[in-house]
Amino acid sequence: MTTTLAPATFAEITLPDSARDAIGAELLPLADPVLDIDRALARLHAVFARLPLGALQAVLDFGRHVDTPGVALVRNLPVDPELPATPVDGNPSPDKRTFVAEGVLLGLSQLLGEPVGFTTEKAGRLVHDVVPVSAGAATQTNQSSGVFLNFHNDIVHDEVGRYDVSNPDFLVLHCLRQDPGKEAVTYYADARDISRALDPDVLDTLRAPLFRLNAPGSYVREFAGGAEVLSDPVAVISGPAESPEISVSANGVRGLTDEAEAALHVLQRVCREVAHQVYLEPGTALLINNRKGLHARSQFLARHDGRDRWLQRTYLRRSLWAIRYRGVSGERRVH
Ligand SMILES: [Fe+2]
Repeated sequence: MTTTLAPATFAEITLPDSARDAIGAELLPLADPVLDIDRALARLHAVFARLPLGALQAVLDFGRHVDTPGVALVRNLPVDPELPATPVDGNPSPDKRTFVAEGVLLGLSQLLGEPVGFTTEKAGRLVHDVVPVSAGAATQTNQSSGVFLNFHNDIVHDEVGRYDVSNPDFLVLHCLRQDPGKEAVTYYADARDISRALDPDVLDTLRAPLFRLNAPGSYVREFAGGAEVLSDPVAVISGPAESPEISVSANGVRGLTDEAEAALHVLQRVCREVAHQVYLEPGTALLINNRKGLHARSQFLARHDGRDRWLQRTYLRRSLWAIRYRGVSGERRVH
């Protein structure tokens, strides 16, 4: 008799000190990679070839395969020797003198896919600074701190009416500075674990096209005057039972029936029950498959004094080809 084990949905990859130090030494003299991004990515490709073979394969397989975990924590990464104050406005720090963090972020990222920017998110930048912004403290956005950021994946407003198609395949979150209270928890709930834990009737409802996703908070704030901009009706969970895809907007999902609304509440509860949780600290990065699962974040203390939590984030596509219809003229990676 064979026993079918649930697939592992969380992985941990720890670099040996020798690899950390070798990669850190190569990154230390490099200029800001976004200044000449494709040249920088070629250089980072060579630098990250120094990863031990097991770690390199684990990251590559994470990006390639259907049956691999949806989230992976990478530990013992090199860090910048000095870090300026955490920016308070969500824009890049003008005082950063070395770019080890950016090199680590992009070096790991391109093992999963192509870094992309979206004009409606952080002005199309390829490296996002994710910091608590006082004006957004209570919002369901990456600027928040004072609220639980509900389970969601990162979606992108798109004129085609679907926000879950041109959005990133992967995100990488890289921690530069932990929150002063060390209380911020990042959660990841894999749709395989969610599907197994849900009542079958609720799962059926979530698999029906009974949901409209609200556009991201940044889009609603900057391009829609604060009004909801809803997608076409979609299913929250789709695809094969053993490899489902899931999509939930952080900025709100409207269920088209009472059952659909109720299913969304159950979904958030079940996510909390099955989620993996990590405390991100300097030298760690979280690889997130943005189709296999949903992520969330606890509330945490923010003082807006330069010592706040500071993450850098990338958005990645396995290929730029399928989103070329929304490319920005003259920009290879901005859509
Ligand atoms: Fe997110």
